[in-house]
Amino acid sequence: MTRPGHRPADDLRALLAVTVDALDAGRRDRGGPLPSGGPADVRKAVLAALGEPGPLLPPRGDGEAAALGALTRMLSAGSADPADPLCAAHLHCPPLAVAVAADLAVSALNPSLDSWDQAPAGTTIETEVLAALADLVGYDPTRAVGTVTTGGTESNLMGLLLGGHVAGRAAAPAPGSTAASPRGWLGQLSHHGRHGARPPASRAPASRSAATAALPVFCSAAGHHSVRRGAELLGLRRIVPVEVDAAHRMDVQALRSALARHPGPALVVATAGTTDAGAIDPLAEIAELVRAHPAPVWLHVDAAHGGGALFSRRLAERLAGLAQADSVALDLHKLGWQPAPAGIFLTPSGRGWDRLDAEVAYLNPADETIAGYTSLLGRSLRTTRRPDAFKIAVTFRALGRERLGAMVDTCHDLARHAARVVTADPRLELAAPVTLSTVLFRYLPPEPGEHPPDTGGGTPEHTGVPRHADRARHASRLDRIDRIDRIDRLNAAIRSRLLEEGAAVVGRTTAGPHGAVHLKLTLLNPNATDADVSALLALVAATGDQLAAERTP
Ligand SMILES: Cc1ncc(COP(=O)(O)O)c(C=O)c1O
Repeated sequence: MTRPGHRPADDLRALLAVTVDALDAGRRDRGGPLPSGGPADVRKAVLAALGEPGPLLPPRGDGEAAALGALTRMLSAGSADPADPLCAAHLHCPPLAVAVAADLAVSALNPSLDSWDQAPAGTTIETEVLAALADLVGYDPTRAVGTVTTGGTESNLMGLLLGGHVAGRAAAPAPGSTAASPRGWLGQLSHHGRHGARPPASRAPASRSAATAALPVFCSAAGHHSVRRGAELLGLRRIVPVEVDAAHRMDVQALRSALARHPGPALVVATAGTTDAGAIDPLAEIAELVRAHPAPVWLHVDAAHGGGALFSRRLAERLAGLAQADSVALDLHKLGWQPAPAGIFLTPSGRGWDRLDAEVAYLNPADETIAGYTSLLGRSLRTTRRPDAFKIAVTFRALGRERLGAMVDTCHDLARHAARVVTADPRLELAAPVTLSTVLFRYLPPEPGEHPPDTGGGTPEHTGVPRHADRARHASRLDRIDRIDRIDRLNAAIRSRLLEEGAAVVGRTTAGPHGAVHLKLTLLNPNATDADVSALLALVAATGDQLAAERTP
């Protein structure tokens, strides 16, 4: 039993053994990538482990080892396991054991970064990890500023917060005028340069917030939903979607036209690694457009997905232009194999961070800060904040860039293999080229009356155009609409059937000009093999055949 003041290491050692054993037992109970039976069966098992029909909080507990063992086994049995090669839906990575162990050390010590006296070492660790990542991004690590966040969502919010603050300051009305006007930001441009610094003291905050609310936020239609949500939360209501090209990348010409219609200050959010296709916007071209704009524009790059490519010597070049961003979101709980959370937010300098300045008597009195007792309170919207940088530091020291880069390359290779398999199978259709480790595709059923092709054993003939897709093109319009609807339902059903059976976790989204239902593999498991990926795609296609046959009258 843990007593006040008791050092927990001995208890922890014993409980860790219980935990690891229960994780293994639960994995064996599950016997696949996720529990079978769907939500109702999982709920039943969870409630039973939580003591139902008794209360979850009983008058007397079961004891630490018993409760931990039973609930960990239940959690493991009831989890979608990203370490299983057939679990490949989301940006949901199998965490490195070394990072999990480091995370445990943080939990045991429970430091908090809002004041130095709660995290003396943690404070420096975060600062150093951020400097190393800034270097990787291409920022000057001695000038860059950042914070470790809960993920891309929070990092995107931070980018919009700081960007809105800086651009809003530029857009605020000049003293004496009543509304935001081009004269406001033009005047400021001439006085303070393109990245206009401090606002004139006479500016009323109400005018500034009105100017900020009016700022347009340009974001590609393939941007992550957290960008829109973050903008709305911050009162940035003018969200301007920018079209994407056939490869899901922001269309630079469309951005150019959109910016031309809004000559004032603005925010642009580009994506390096879209959630569904892994597409990387043309960052260098976007940065050039932003620089050429007549008013200040804050460029935030959401590299939550694609930032991991920076570890890879082969792929890092795809993020060329990233260093020109005013802020960047990275996520090491995606292509970085950290247990969540391990989000990163970086800026090349301290510009904009005054938005979060806070001096709080009990946390960071000025004299202590001056004396070197650094508090990272002003780096986050949160107060209590665990040093998630620690597991990243341990990972960096343990694996080095080479091993991390090799892991990224392996996942990229798996995705390329998957794309080849999809292209070679007439039942499957690829929806986007592979950029990182995501494969977007769908199943195409045979035409009514036609039997599914026999692809077992031999190499399927590949003509470049999927046979079934070709036929669909020639069907009458009504038939086509009916068929599109049927294909959508079929693809949705493939995923549901696999989930229900606990056989595989395959992603689902929409893609294409008509928002057709598609399936997605997000291959983040560097221990998976080409054979695993082939088996997963064969399972998807076979499930499609089976469902198509069941549905054909
Ligand atoms: C491109 C992109 N940005 C942001 C996010 C949000 O990241 P998080 O879930 O870590 O908040 C995601 C999540 O998948 C993403 O794909």
